[in-house]
Amino acid sequence: MLYISPQTENYMAVRGQFSNKLGFIMAAAGSAVGLGNIWKFPFEVGQGGGAIFVLMYLIFCFALCFPVMVTEIAIGRKTQRNPVGAFNALGFRNWNIVGKLGILSGVLILSFYNVVAAWAFGYVFEMAVGHFNVGAGFGSAESAYTTDIVKIGIYGIVFMTATAFIVNQGVSKGIEKATKILMPTLIIMILGLVIYSLTLDHSMKGLSFYLKPDFSAIKGKVVYSALGQAFFSLSLGMGALITYGSYVSKKDNILSSAALITLMDVGIAFIAGLMMFPFVAYMSNGTMEGVSGGPGLIFAVLPGVFESLGTIGPVIGAIFFLLLSFAALTSTVSLLEVPVAYAVDEHGVKRKRAVWLVAGLIFIIGIPSMLSGGYSEFFTGFIQYVKAEKATDFLTFVSDTASDTFLPLGGFLITVFAAYAWKRNNLEEELAQGASKYKGSFLSKYISIAITVVCPLILGSIFILTVLSKFFGVQIFA
Ligand code: TRP
Repeated sequence: MLYISPQTENYMAVRGQFSNKLGFIMAAAGSAVGLGNIWKFPFEVGQGGGAIFVLMYLIFCFALCFPVMVTEIAIGRKTQRNPVGAFNALGFRNWNIVGKLGILSGVLILSFYNVVAAWAFGYVFEMAVGHFNVGAGFGSAESAYTTDIVKIGIYGIVFMTATAFIVNQGVSKGIEKATKILMPTLIIMILGLVIYSLTLDHSMKGLSFYLKPDFSAIKGKVVYSALGQAFFSLSLGMGALITYGSYVSKKDNILSSAALITLMDVGIAFIAGLMMFPFVAYMSNGTMEGVSGGPGLIFAVLPGVFESLGTIGPVIGAIFFLLLSFAALTSTVSLLEVPVAYAVDEHGVKRKRAVWLVAGLIFIIGIPSMLSGGYSEFFTGFIQYVKAEKATDFLTFVSDTASDTFLPLGGFLITVFAAYAWKRNNLEEELAQGASKYKGSFLSKYISIAITVVCPLILGSIFILTVLSKFFGVQIFA
């Protein structure tokens, strides 16, 4: 393995680097913004009882996740490594298990993420030809589309190949450019659809579900799903931002970059919700029935909405899913980059080889998820959690394990590491590089308290709550 010290002058030439601060923000925002905002956020809100989930989610993003985000980026920039190498480079080999857990999470997340991306990508064509009845209704597992395994398989291969292709080109080139153009376009399109959604019947019912919290509905599930969603959406807890941070220049301000990334990601999820819930109300004739249907939500609701647009429906629908596919692509790229950087840096595998090997392997791990949308009975009813009403499909099981459980655990361990092993003054030093007024500021005090006390305490307890109540049916509260 070639050891390149960050202090060596030419390390930048050897290790790719983002062209400038905006490039990093765009790439990291590209990683954050994806299916998590437009596919996962609305259905999690639906299952979490609406506005109360949204409120928890917002609090978690800003109060808990933001400190974790700056810590990840700082560790990455300081060490110029992948998540495993980063802990080694700081001199804490025992802690590299956190990086390994991150790599496992990334592999698991990408395995099912690619399947959902394949659904979305396939919808581009289904919409274009006016197949508006592709989903057989809200949350129906037997939808004709997700069981068409040949189609989904092909879309899935195309999607993973595109991801591998971009990762092979190196992080900075393709992603930055694509994100700069496509993300604003996606935002404009969603805003247009928000306006349209407000003109539809029953839209106020949808909005009040989304925005008027019912505090009596707060349950353990709402808390841990909101936290898992916050981590997933911000791409935190598995070292994706350690890896991206390793490409950031010492001159850049980590704090303002992280703030922008968080605002962009949360903002896009929020407007996606503003669009979706009036749509759900419209499609359900104001009953909001099916809103808790799970992963099929957008795929069931949106076709009917595009159909209602008349002759332009197919075009709008196809463009929407095309933009969504691009948003997903900048996320899958960041997910693949992590295990690839690990294989290259730590095991000396050639980059090209690592890319195709890891991508192929993850595609194979994703096959059961692909079959769990109704095609295979075994994978569709894969596991019965203790005291759960019904069996959980394989895709949801992997997502529950990786995003609701491993990511917050990873976040917990990263903050404990930064506070008690690496020590918070080292973190502060790194954060202050490129942020001259940081030391002694209010923000620095907050981050210091967050990583030493608030994050370890809350993330640790929610992790325990999640495992007990999700998988073992033990209800800690309500
Ligand atoms: N945040 C992305 C989304 O919302 C998914 C994602 C990309 C991710 N990279 C990640 C999630 C790393 C967790 C960790 O679609």
